[in-house]
Amino acid sequence: MSVVKINVLTVPADMREELERRFAKRAGMVDSADGFEWFELLRPVDGTERYLVYTRWRSEEDFQNWQQSQAFQRGHAQAAQDAQGQGHGHGQGPAQGHGHGQGPAATGSEVWSFEVAESAGPAS
Ligand code: HEM
Repeated sequence: MSVVKINVLTVPADMREELERRFAKRAGMVDSADGFEWFELLRPVDGTERYLVYTRWRSEEDFQNWQQSQAFQRGHAQAAQDAQGQGHGHGQGPAQGHGHGQGPAATGSEVWSFEVAESAGPAS
């Protein structure tokens, strides 16, 4: 039974373009992770600030292994660098971080976990 892991990213309106640009040039390393089944970046169209990073995995263990892997680290190189840059006094908060490089594209993140109880695809 597959598991779905959704990273909920809170993205201020003025950072949406930057976030989508980063995902558009993402490392793509997750694509060859063991047990990886699907990835989608879901853009909010209802006026909220929450993007959903949807991933589906063969098992919980496969997801955990990826999250501990080099591929996860490399896939998050830019995000990690931004988070670090923010801590170095270059900026007292997200706003000021914008002057020195773009700063983190998301101001918050949380992970939602699901098991696929039922699924269906288009009738062939
Ligand atoms: C602090 C938490 C996190 C933040 C701020 C974050 C942000 C980002 C950003 C900005 C990127 C684009 C690449 C980059 O700029 O580095 C990225 C890539 C990605 N993120 Fe996250 N992320 C986080 C945790 C997670 C988690 C927990 C998941 C899984 C549910 C996830 C799934 C992905 C995937 C699949 C990619 C593409 C990686 C690749 O292409 O190999 N992220 N993330």
